[in-house]
Amino acid sequence: MELHKREYIEEAAGAVRQHASIVPQVALITGSGLAELADEAINATPIPYGDIPHFPQSTVAGHPGELVVGELENVPVVIQRGRVHFYEGYSMQQITFPIRVMQALGAETLIVTNAAGGLNPAFSAGDIMAIRDHLNLTGHNPLRGPNDPELGPRFPLMAGAYSPRLRQLARDVARELGVELQSGVYAGLAGPTFETPAELRFLQMMGADAVGMSTTPEVTVARHGGMQVLGFSIVGNMALPDEIEAAVEAQAGEGEAEEVHDEVLEAGQRAVPRLQAIIRGVLRNYAR
Ligand code: HPA
Repeated sequence: MELHKREYIEEAAGAVRQHASIVPQVALITGSGLAELADEAINATPIPYGDIPHFPQSTVAGHPGELVVGELENVPVVIQRGRVHFYEGYSMQQITFPIRVMQALGAETLIVTNAAGGLNPAFSAGDIMAIRDHLNLTGHNPLRGPNDPELGPRFPLMAGAYSPRLRQLARDVARELGVELQSGVYAGLAGPTFETPAELRFLQMMGADAVGMSTTPEVTVARHGGMQVLGFSIVGNMALPDEIEAAVEAQAGEGEAEEVHDEVLEAGQRAVPRLQAIIRGVLRNYAR
């Protein structure tokens, strides 16, 4: 798939509408290990990606694939439960196709979540960060190619991509809940390798607070389509270059890749109830 053809988007949206009559206002993407964010939706209809024409299928453990149409806090929502990633071999257009479909179904706002490595030394594993801005360091852009002006402008603005209004709302909700909420810049890389210490230093110098392998493509397409975006990273692991180098020096680096992935999933699990509470609070106020 090269382009987001309007007929493909309509075919996919039509298939979803055949399963569920709710017209969603808000779209959610639940990232690595965060699928249970979708578990609390009521009147929920799960639709496996396999039942939706042109939808990409996920290949990674911990990323089940279904769209869930339902309600959260009385707000009609569509939840993309599990995303596909560029590192799996999908094109940027495939990764972001679900955004077009969720928007076609009616969603005006996107709430996106991911698991990330923490680059800001003030963070700890298990923290939640509201994304203030991003660095698209994938080397690619899903909008490359002919532009369909019905979907959005040729040169979309990315300043203000993460809605100041929604971030303020998230901060207010977190304060009310007594939940700590960090704020920062998310660096989106292509992966699948974790970064070298030199790369982590470079990312810190660029002003990144967290690093991951998703989100920037989806947010780019959501903004192209004019959606409002709110993004959260769960800091699954700290990715501090000096500490990683010291651990490698101490020969503590054996079999580490698996461990980091497990660590990310585990810290993600711990943060899920807090992030769930923040998202629910945002939705409660969204309806007003
Ligand atoms: N680097 C890149 N992506 C990630 C990380 C990391 O340390 N943790 C979770 N996703």
